[in-house]
Formats: sequence, structure tokens, C-alpha cells
Amino acid sequence: MPYDADARPGLTASRRALLAGALFAGASVVAAPKLAWGQARRHAARIEALIAEMTIEEKAGQLNLLNDPFRFRPQSVNPTDGEGDPARVSQLIREGKLGNLFNGVGAEGGREIQDIAVKESRLKIPLLFAADIIHGLVTVFPVPLGEAAAWDADLAYRTARAAAVEGCASAIHQTYAPMVDIGRDQRWGRVVEGAGEDVHLGNILAIARTRGFQGERGLDHPQAMLATPKHFAAYGAAEAGLDYNTTDMSDVTLRGVYLPPFKAAFDAGALSTMSAFNDVNGVPATGNEYLLTDILRGEWGFEGFVVSDYTSEQELIAHGFAADGRDAARLSLLAGVDMSMVSGLYLEHIPDLVASGDVPLAVVDRAVRRVLSVKAALGLFDDPYRGTSVARERREVGSREHYALAREAGRKSCVLLKNDGDLLPLPKAGTRIALIGPFGDSLDVFGPWTIWGDESKRVSLEAGFREAMRDPSLLTVSKGSDVEAPIEGGVAAAVAAAQAADVVVLAIGESAAMSAEAKSRVDIGIPQPQLDLAEAVAAVGKPVVVLLRNGRGMELSGAVKDAQAILVTWFLGSEMGRSVADVVFGDHGPTGRLPVSFPHRSGQSPYYYSRKTTGRPATAPNQEYKTQFRETPNEALYPFGHGLTYGRVTYGAPNAGAGTLAWDGALEVSVEVSNAGARPASEVVQLYVRDKVASLTQPGRRLIDFKRVEIPAGGAETVRFTIRREQLQFMGADRQWTVEPGEFDLWIAPSGQGGQSTTFRLTR
Ligand code: BGC
Repeated sequence: MPYDADARPGLTASRRALLAGALFAGASVVAAPKLAWGQARRHAARIEALIAEMTIEEKAGQLNLLNDPFRFRPQSVNPTDGEGDPARVSQLIREGKLGNLFNGVGAEGGREIQDIAVKESRLKIPLLFAADIIHGLVTVFPVPLGEAAAWDADLAYRTARAAAVEGCASAIHQTYAPMVDIGRDQRWGRVVEGAGEDVHLGNILAIARTRGFQGERGLDHPQAMLATPKHFAAYGAAEAGLDYNTTDMSDVTLRGVYLPPFKAAFDAGALSTMSAFNDVNGVPATGNEYLLTDILRGEWGFEGFVVSDYTSEQELIAHGFAADGRDAARLSLLAGVDMSMVSGLYLEHIPDLVASGDVPLAVVDRAVRRVLSVKAALGLFDDPYRGTSVARERREVGSREHYALAREAGRKSCVLLKNDGDLLPLPKAGTRIALIGPFGDSLDVFGPWTIWGDESKRVSLEAGFREAMRDPSLLTVSKGSDVEAPIEGGVAAAVAAAQAADVVVLAIGESAAMSAEAKSRVDIGIPQPQLDLAEAVAAVGKPVVVLLRNGRGMELSGAVKDAQAILVTWFLGSEMGRSVADVVFGDHGPTGRLPVSFPHRSGQSPYYYSRKTTGRPATAPNQEYKTQFRETPNEALYPFGHGLTYGRVTYGAPNAGAGTLAWDGALEVSVEVSNAGARPASEVVQLYVRDKVASLTQPGRRLIDFKRVEIPAGGAETVRFTIRREQLQFMGADRQWTVEPGEFDLWIAPSGQGGQSTTFRLTR
């Protein structure tokens, strides 16, 4: 099969139209592709006939999902990985008691397993193969939070498309992605999997990633992979950023902040979702009828299926919500969870739950219908062996184009926080560089959510630097410290390396093992041994560039904070070293912007730019009886949206045009942005508003639009935005999107903090 044009670089006009526009809070996105359902409609009668013929055990089997014990999985990601017994699982498939497998990949194995279902089971219903393909399969792209820093929907679309091409070629039909949880508390390790703290950016990337995974040619296209926006819902609001913890929030916040990216992904065509681990306002998400039925089905008309998160229906017992396994299966089924992940509770209890009348047969049939309809939509009834060609797998997985895309995505995800004296970019020749820190030669580049990445293709910073430098012998590498523990003699060796160099590049931060699931931190700073290393090396007096490796917004302090240049590099995937070298040596000017704020101190968490002002906003540090901590201003050190270029960009005062937005009209606003530097700048110009008086208190400001502009050295651009009423909507007390006439503050600024403002009025 030829390489899918959708996965190639370059933005077609139609795709630009699909990804752009109509992203007002709460508004449906541009006409959703109904392509997704294609084949399901054609198979509707067959599905009804199957349901009529199935035994209750076979129905439970279609709602049962277990680990794939057959196929390749180099790394464990879940507590019971690797415990499956292939003989038992084969037997369950044969008996029609298992309809779905996850986290095994491979074309050849896929054919063999599918054979059991299609040739040996009574009803010959094909298996659904799912996997956690979060940011690439064999070719690994930047972690989702890192890629969010590119503020680039087209890039997110293309990496998701490439991941889908690889997954589909390895006999995977469904991915457990995109993760669309809003992440406002950097202590929460799973911030790394999402798009950051902002609703608008989150909506845009939810749409881009969903469309990227599913493609635009119908779900039955051989390169379309079912998207599963997760974790439904409010998982990102776990108290204290502690994973799995309780969430408790108003309906206004739930609907106005945490739900919109899900709605955006469903409107973009996603046909499955995953119920979250946490409880929400006292009801576990996996037993939450309000979320899974009233909102998801009733209000939004979602027709796909809901899968529980890993044993989350069983966890209703530990939550103290269900009495035992039977009760847990009953509650989650009745709430609207169609498929059970791993626990086996549905298979075990559905027959009895139906026989006793505790669960109506119609509820089970409805869940089975949803699962079979999605299987049909994926084309599995027409070709159960989709994705099982070994030749195609060899051709499409880990292709040269995908590695080129990984490098591009990596360099576009870097964010330059600081660049005093234009220390960056470094010259490629004539400068002695000491690359110091635990990440200099480290191959910890994939990030925490990769299972099948090709480890032999990982590019370290050292390798990337050597490739870029004209005389690689001018590079010395000294580890100095491990990530969380000192190394005997490490600091002394690093200091010696710094003394012999012209510039120090300090590669420090977090290991992949410090973020993602169950990796919450109380302190979002850099581990002490690395801070000690940074102090010692900085004391040598050479210019210092910090390359930060991180899966979250972090607290920066001491010599790290004071370094002349700081570049945020996340976990950039397979090509990390080359991507970073592209930026450090200036082949690519930095273009990224923070998708999460970096607070001054961990104790400010949860910190996000769009917080409420309160009745006592602080206007300066150390004011008495104002909303701030004793030790730090109530601001970010580096706010959401921040990111420098190699140019020198300045903003003029925003111009609110006519100053009045008529109810059904449009208001053009603008700003002049100039680049006084000697290098071109790729600037992300951001439009923020504040509703000054509203019936519910509103954020101090919130992003409603942004544009990337290229400004040549010495050049200037007038950047224009059009504001319409829909962009000013907020979730009202009556649970409806609401707009109220009145005055609004407006910023056209380089970040979510500071900048000049003006005002305009919305009139009715
Ligand atoms: C995670 C999900 C993931 C699932 C399957 C769970 O622990 O919360 O995000 O999709 O495991 O691996």
C-alpha cells in the first residue's frame, strides 16, 4: 500500500480548514467528519442478527478486554503486564468469551490471533486490537506536552497520523490516545501526556490529534486508527496533583474547563473514550452515570463505546462505592461503561447480573451493539486481517519520513525561556563546549509513555552535538551527577571540564521515570544533586546554557535559574539529540511556547495563568492582605505562552479597532510586532481577554486565539485578529454557554502574563 498522503509533511488547504477556526469554548468544531461511521451503517442488520444469536456469555465476551499475552512487548506499563496466559486467552477467544486484546503489536502475531477468533469461534466475530500508542510506535515523537509547546495543530496532526500509520501496519485498530486531560497542577505526573493547562490550546490539539489518528478517509481505511480521548473525566484535577486522587469541583468548572477538549475530540469523530480512575464529586468516574450517560450520551449524543481504565471498575470497591466484584460490574455497566479493561469482572458477572434482573438485558445488548458497531466502522467485518501484512509493516514502520518528522517535531517543541547576551545559538566551530550533567550522553530521550520505540535509534545530546559541530573534538562530556544521586568525584570532574571550556551546556532535569502515571511529586524542582552540580559548575564563571529535560512545568532555582540561557527540551523522542542540536547551533530558531506555567515555587501549585483575580488581587510583591504567598509573588517565573526566539521581538500597544463588538458582528483588533534583532523570529502572537463584569467570576485572562508570524530581522508585522461573540462565552450557572454584554480587557501579548492591554465593549 502506498504511503498515506495524509502523513506527509505539508498542510493542504482542506486540512488547514479542518484544523482551524470554530474553536470557541463550547461551540461544535467545524462539521465533524461522519466518515467515521461508514461501514457500521452497512453492517447494522448483521449486528442485530448477531446480537439475537449470541449467548449471554458471548455478549459478555464482546465487552471483555484483556492484555495481549501473545505479541511483542518489551516494557511493562501496567501492574499485571506479562501475567496473561496465552493458552487460557486462546481458549477464551475460541469460546467467544473474549472479544478484545490490548498492548501487543505485530502484523504476523495479529494474523495468528485473529485466526482463532475468525476461524475457531462460533460466531467468528473479529477481535479488536488496542494499544497505548501515545506519541509514536517504533518512531518516537516528542511527549504530548512537549509537542503541545509547538502550538502547532498541523504538526500534532502529522505526528498522530504517522503514529497511526505505524500502529495500523502492526495490526492495531485502536489507540488509547489522545490524553486530553487539562493539567494545571505540575505535581501531577500525567501532565506530560496531555496538552497542558489551557482549554483553548487543549481543544485545538484534541481535534488535531483525533483527526491525525483517525485520518480523513473513514475509520475503515487501512491507515485509520480509532482514537480514544481519555480519561473521562476531570482526572487532571486530582487533589494535590496526587495521581488517582479525589476530584471535587463545581459543575461550572467541570463543564467549562475539563470537558471541552473531550467534546472537541468527539465532534472531531472519536468513537471511543476511557472512563477515569478518580472520583468526581463523590462518584467514581467509572460508575458515574451523570458523566457517562447524562452528559456523554444525553447531552452530547456520543455513539461510540466507553472502555474502563485499567481495572477501574474493580476499583469501585476500593473507592468504597461497590460492595464486591459483582456490584462493581453492575454499577459500571449501568453507569455506561461498555467494555471492561483487564479485571474480567464483566465476563464473570454479566450472565448472573442479567439472570437475576439486576442489569436489564437491554443494557448489555446496547453495550454489545456499540462495540460491534465500532468494529464494523473499523472495517473489521469486511477485513478482519487488516494490518497483518508483514511486508507492509516492514515498509511503513520506522520509515525514513517518520524519523525526519520526529526530528522536525522535536526542534519545534523546544522552548527558549531565557537567552541573556544572545548566548544561543552557539557557533558550530571554534568553541570548546563542556556538556555536563546526567543527560549529556543519556539515552533517556523517549519519555515515560513508550512501549515499542526502537531503542537502537535513540540519539543522545552528545551524538547530536557531535554531528552538528565542525570539530567534534571540541566537545567534552562529563556526567557530574546522576539524576537523583551524586557520583563520587563527579562534581570535580565536571568543574575541570568547565574550566577547560569556553561554554558550559548543562543537561539536567528529570528522568522519564519521574513523570507520567503514578509519578506525582511534592517538589517540582530539579533534584538536589543536580542543583549542587549546577552551583559548582556555574562558579567556574563560564557562560552556562541549561538544557532542561522535563515532563512537567518545573521550579527553577539557584544557578539553574540564573544561567544565561535556558532551553526547555522535554523528552523529544527518537531524534532528540539532533532536534536539540538544530536549535542550539541555530539551524532552527526556537519556535516553541510553554503550554504550562513554570511557577516560582512548587508550593504555588496548582498554578495556572488563567486563575481568578480574587477580591484582593496583589499588584506588587509583599503587599499586606493581598492574594499572595509570603515567600513569592503570585506569578509564574515563566508563564504559559512564554518562549523567546533568536530575534528581539517587541510588541506595540494593542489596538481595539472600533472598540465595540456588536452582538452578531466582528471586531478587528491588531498589534504591531517588530523584530529589532539580527535574526528572524517566528513569533506566536496571543490574544487574551478578561470579562470585566460577569454573573460568575471569570479568569484574570484567558487565551481565545493565537497566530504564528514570521518576522525577518529588522522587520515588523501588523498582526490582526477577528473577535466574535462566541469567543467570549463562559459556562454559566445554568450550565449553558453564556455571553454577557459589557466591557472586556484585551491583551495581544507574547504570554499569559504581563503585556499591555486595552478594552472593548460587547453590545447587544
Ligand atoms: C492508564 C491508561 C492506559 C491504560 C492501559 C492505565 O493505567 O491510566 O492511560 O491507557 O493503563 O495501559
